[in-house]
Amino acid sequence: MVAHRGASAALPEHTLAAYELALEEGADGLECDVRLTRDGHLVCVHDRTVDRTSTGSGVVSEMTLGNLSELAFGGNGEPVLTLSELITLVLDHTTRPTKLFIETKHPVRFGGLVESKVLAELARFGLAAPPSATHSRAVVMSFSAAAVWRIRRSAPLLPTVLLGESSRYLGGGAATTVGATAVGPSIKSLREHPEIVDRAAAAGRATYCWTVDDRRDVELCRDLGVGWVATNHPGRTREWLGR
Ligand code: G3P
Ligand code: CA
Repeated sequence: MVAHRGASAALPEHTLAAYELALEEGADGLECDVRLTRDGHLVCVHDRTVDRTSTGSGVVSEMTLGNLSELAFGGNGEPVLTLSELITLVLDHTTRPTKLFIETKHPVRFGGLVESKVLAELARFGLAAPPSATHSRAVVMSFSAAAVWRIRRSAPLLPTVLLGESSRYLGGGAATTVGATAVGPSIKSLREHPEIVDRAAAAGRATYCWTVDDRRDVELCRDLGVGWVATNHPGRTREWLGR
């Protein structure tokens, strides 16, 4: 069970407090979106701009980390969260070997530099070359097939998820082309095409499904054998999964 943007139904998304609550509620994984600032720092922000989630406004890629640090991203004045701080939280959480699911957003002005920076950051923490995909503490995801391919090419042992609608997995085989270790359909796609899970498994791939907040959907994922369920409600999802 993966906490989508942290325990983001209860606390402001992508804040340290939201991720700490997700860990308290028993999340097995934490999901985050990352973007590059103008001065090359990876920050956990979903949108192209900070308008929706902070007290300020502006395009993330046009702002420096210093600019972002002047803004509040949560009700209690939480600062912007860097990927480095989130990795540290995950590694410091020793109760369970929690995984970090890092999504790179595209298109962006920096193109493939985002994946290079993510890999450099993972390498700095010793996470870029895990012994196996199963034992990896980090997973890199994207809707961009090119982004997934860049990760596979540079860090073949890191698990990856190619996000997207069912047509990507049922017909074209994009996940095979770029070597993704998992497919990442939305819950809507999975409801329409539950066979995605078995087809992915037959090709040696896990399934990561997002964003699963309804009880019937959580149970559907469990019954289909979805490997990773991303939810904004980690606490109740854990209970629904009977864990
Ligand atoms: O976990 C994948 C999911 O987060 C993709 O959609 O828009 O919430 O990043 P979005
Ligand atoms: Ca995301």
